[in-house]
Amino acid sequence: MEKTILSVNNLNVTFGKKKILKNINLEINKNEITVIIGQSGCGKSTLLKSFNRIVEEEGGKIEGNIMIEGEDFNNIPLQSLRNKIGLVFQNPVVFPFSIEKNLTYALEYHNKYDEETIGKRKIELLKQTKLYDEVKDHLHMFAGKLSGGQKQRLSIARCLSVSPKIILLDEPCSALDVKNTMFIEEMLMELKKEYTIVIVTHNLAQAKRIGDNVIFMDDGKIVEEGRSKEFFECPKENLSKEYIKYMGN
Ligand SMILES: Nc1ncnc2c1ncn2[C@@H]1O[C@H](COP(=O)(O)OP(=O)(O)OP(=O)(O)O)[C@@H](O)[C@H]1O
Ligand SMILES: [Mg+2]
Repeated sequence: MEKTILSVNNLNVTFGKKKILKNINLEINKNEITVIIGQSGCGKSTLLKSFNRIVEEEGGKIEGNIMIEGEDFNNIPLQSLRNKIGLVFQNPVVFPFSIEKNLTYALEYHNKYDEETIGKRKIELLKQTKLYDEVKDHLHMFAGKLSGGQKQRLSIARCLSVSPKIILLDEPCSALDVKNTMFIEEMLMELKKEYTIVIVTHNLAQAKRIGDNVIFMDDGKIVEEGRSKEFFECPKENLSKEYIKYMGN
């Protein structure tokens, strides 16, 4: 089985004259959780947003090459690219509809599923994101009324509804309490059997708990990359050592 699902070769991203990502090379393994860490402003979000080309909508210019399942991302129509690679933001984004409609919207939009399939998928998504018990009796409630943690899980469920291959999560737990953080970590450990996950976090304990692979960035570059256990137990670069020490190992 081919292990690499996404590979980045000599990626540079600029905003105007500002060079934000500098010669990034990396590979993301299928059915693993890759964690991206690094100081604020080092380019973590920009890197995630390059994968599905949102960076271009924000005025950034991408140079270099990104391959997804062996296909040059330039050759993949934008809509398919974004269905293949879903992005979940730090602040949950729910649509101003009911909980149910948030889950079924994309499926209905594509118009290729019957009602029964959509109904089953809806329940499956709620169970996968551990929302089912909490919301099953009020699926018609306005999604905006959910708690922050529930909204974040619903936005993940919505991202999963189009069956992406890769899920990108940008600091999904930074505004959440311990219980919701645990829910999300458990959920990601289960989801990696089916999906490939890339998560940005400032929480090194979280990175250790759930990461298979770690990418440590500084000033737009990758400083060190490796298996999570090795990275945390025996970092090679001085910058990595300092970061781990400083961020509370
Ligand atoms: N649309 C934009 N226009 C100009 N500069 C931008 C834009 N988006 C990001 N940048 C710059 O790119 C750099 C990296 O930003 P990015 O958001 O990727 O960092 P980050 O590592 O995600 O930081 P944080 O941990 O604070 O979220 C910053 O210097 C930022 O000012
Ligand atoms: Mg960021």
